[in-house]
Order: sequence, then C-alpha cells, then structure tokens
Amino acid sequence: MNISRKSFFFGSAAATAAIGLKAMAQAPTGKIQGFDESIETKTDGPWQPFSDKKVRVGIAGYGVCMFGAAFSFQDHPNVEVVAATDLDPERCAKLAQIVHAKRTYPSAEEMIDKEGRNMDAVFIATDAASHADLVLRALDRGYHVCSAVPALLGERQLDRAPKLVEAVKKSGGLVYALFETTAFRPQAIAMRRIYEAGGFGQLAYTEGEYFHYSVGTGSIGSYKGWRIGLPPQYYPTHSNGFYTCVTHGHFTEVACIGTPADDIPIYGERKNPYGNPFRSEVAFFKTSDGGSARMTVAWGLPGYGGELGRCFGTKGCYRNDRFAGDGSIAGKLKLVRAGLPPGMTNNGHHGGSHPYLTDDFLRAILVPGHKVCVDVATALNTTVSGVYAHMSAMKGGETLKLPVFA
Ligand SMILES: NC(=O)c1ccc[n+]([C@@H]2O[C@H](COP(=O)([O-])OP(=O)(O)OC[C@H]3O[C@@H](n4cnc5c(N)ncnc54)[C@H](O)[C@@H]3O)[C@@H](O)[C@H]2O)c1
Repeated sequence: MNISRKSFFFGSAAATAAIGLKAMAQAPTGKIQGFDESIETKTDGPWQPFSDKKVRVGIAGYGVCMFGAAFSFQDHPNVEVVAATDLDPERCAKLAQIVHAKRTYPSAEEMIDKEGRNMDAVFIATDAASHADLVLRALDRGYHVCSAVPALLGERQLDRAPKLVEAVKKSGGLVYALFETTAFRPQAIAMRRIYEAGGFGQLAYTEGEYFHYSVGTGSIGSYKGWRIGLPPQYYPTHSNGFYTCVTHGHFTEVACIGTPADDIPIYGERKNPYGNPFRSEVAFFKTSDGGSARMTVAWGLPGYGGELGRCFGTKGCYRNDRFAGDGSIAGKLKLVRAGLPPGMTNNGHHGGSHPYLTDDFLRAILVPGHKVCVDVATALNTTVSGVYAHMSAMKGGETLKLPVFA
C-alpha cells in the first residue's frame, strides 16, 4: 500500500505525539466492543462432519484483538495448525501456544515463503493495512487464504481490488474468504435465508450501522497506528455486510455525509495519516436490487455501540430479530444457525460469528461445490463501496458511481 508501512506517520513530531504513540503501543488488554456479546445460541441440530481430511493452516497476527487465536481454527476437527507468526516475538510465542502451532516465523511473509507444501491455507489476522498484500502473496504461493476485514484499506489501496479478483481467478480453484463477522451474525443468517427464498419480495431498503465509540478513553491501539483518525467508511464491512452478505448483491452509486470532529485533536487535515476530518459517515447507496441502503459508521458518537441491520422488502421486513410480513415463505424457513463441531461455540465474539466463518472456509476447501459466503466479489463490493463513500464525503456528498466486482 502507499500508506507506506515504514513512514505511516507524517507531519510534525508534536502532531505525531498528539495523535497517539500511546495508542500505537497499547498491549492487548481491556474490554473491546464486540468481544463480550451474549446472543441467541439455539442451533438447528448437531454439526454433521463433512470430511475426514485435515487442512494444515498457518496463522498470522496476534495484535490488540488477539484475532489469530479468536476463530477457533485450533478447535476445528478438520484443522491442524502448523505455523504461527507475529512480528512481535512475544505475541508470536503466545499465539503459537494458544493455537498449538508446530512452527513459528518472524513474519507472515516468511511463513508464506518458507512453509512450502507443509501448509495448505493461511489466516491473515494482521493489521488492516497489510491484508491485501499478504493475501496476494499467499495466493501467489498456492495457498487458500482467509483474511480479517477489511479486504483492503482506503483509496491508496484501490489498485489491489482488481489484483485480488485476478489472483483468485488465476489460482485454479484456491479459496479466498473475507472473515466479515456480520455475515454470520444470527440476524444476517436469518435475512439471507429469507432473501434467498424470496421472502422479502423486492428488497427496497436496507439499513446497517456500526457504532464503535473509539476516541478518547474509548480508543484502542493498532499496529503503526492504523486506527488513528481512520475514516469511518474505510471500515465499512460491518454495516455494508447487512446488504452485501445477505443478498450477494452490490451497490451501484453512493452519496455520503461526514460529520467533522473539529473538537477532537486526531481529526482533520494533517492530523492523522489519512487527512480525515470526520468522526462519523452516513452513506446512502443505490443497490443492485433497484432499492436503496443507508449505512452508518461512527467512531465519535458515545452512548451506543453495536453492529445492527435490517431489511425491508415488498413482502415483509426483518428488524428487531424478527421477520414480519408474508408468512407463507418465511414461516417455513429455519432461521436459527447450524450446529458447530464439538469444542466450538456460537456464544462468542461478534454475535458468535467467528466459528461459522472458519467452518465455511474449511467446507469451501474440502467439500466440492461449497462456495464461501464472503468470496472475493462480495469482499470487494463490501469494502470498496465504503472507500468510495469516504471519497464522496470528502467531496461534500457528491454522488459517485461504484465499480462492481464479480
Ligand atoms: N469484527 C471484526 O471483524 C474485527 C474485529 C476486530 C479486529 N478486526 C480486524 O482484525 C485485524 C487484527 O486486529 P488487531 O486489532 O489485532 O490489529 P493490530 O493492529 O492491533 O495488530 C496487528 C498485529 O499484526 C502483526 N503484524 C503486522 N504485520 C505483520 C506481518 N507482516 N507478519 C506478522 N505479523 C504482522 C503486528 O505485529 C500486530 O501484532 C485487523 O485487520 C482488524 O481490522 C476485525
């Protein structure tokens, strides 16, 4: 990416200090929103084994969110964790211990380059700025790959989008999955089933929102400070996912309003690595269903935190965890989630979504014909639309046409 990972910060030393070397150095401690959710745990029956093979997985990244260990690869019966890495030796050792990795590497690049045929797949759980390039490297070396969100970071990485599509196409069947947690929240699973069965009729309107108060005392650390002053819509997947991961459709146009945060020192031109002035951004999209969507991402609005969404169609709507409308279709659907392998629970982080993303990825590798929910097209339609939303906000809400990924 061109937000050079070596020269991530710019401006004066004073500005750098002001925008939070403290935050950069934060260790993985304390409570982080999304990691303490208690949700509906019912399933539609026990998990059914789908293969007796094991996928040999390498895991990269054990930062503030300890994400490398948070998706239960180490507990899935079809996985052997063969390698672990983090640039920080202590974090690397801790990750290796928790996921029972046989080998460790000082960087993801080395793991990808040196594991050779001892590894089948890689989980990229490093900082957001590094995902796209590490995914491209893993695909190039012949590995299936899944990555934490977003698929790429910001306008300066938009050139990675066609490269990712091309790399997956050229890979001859390697699986790419974006681990967008919204996709396997109970609400999104229910809405996807209703949508696929035609229960909404024409989907006319979708709302999604990601409120995460993260300035001042609410701020969390990040590798080289990538979270500092981050444009809200550069992190759009938890809100946009309520449309893209429900319908597998895309947005066609966007107009977005940003709210400036002049009172918060890290926002404004030259005050953060992105030159971002906005604490919240509300995007209005046209959708490929011929409808519309309102997707909000807010960092600077205290008092509420959450990732929520709802869909409104000509035959009914889903909101507050319930479908209301034409019961003839939706009433016949199982709207609770599937069972999980023993040792994996759906009562955990981000609506209990993590183990479903892992299971979905493994099925795509092991079960012929199984397609991951958040494939490269959905990953990019979910992520790039947010980047354009921020570009629109920077132009005072100008309407922009969106690229479509297939
Ligand atoms: N709900 C969600 O889906 C959700 C929630 C939280 C975090 N995330 C994503 O998970 C990722 C990790 O989040 P975090 O807060 O732990 O990030 P972080 O910035 O705190 O940590 C990143 C870690 O990656 C390591 N790293 C960076 N480059 C590396 C490389 N080349 N090789 C090996 N290790 C490398 C760093 O040393 C650091 O420990 C982020 O991309 C974030 O966007 C998603």
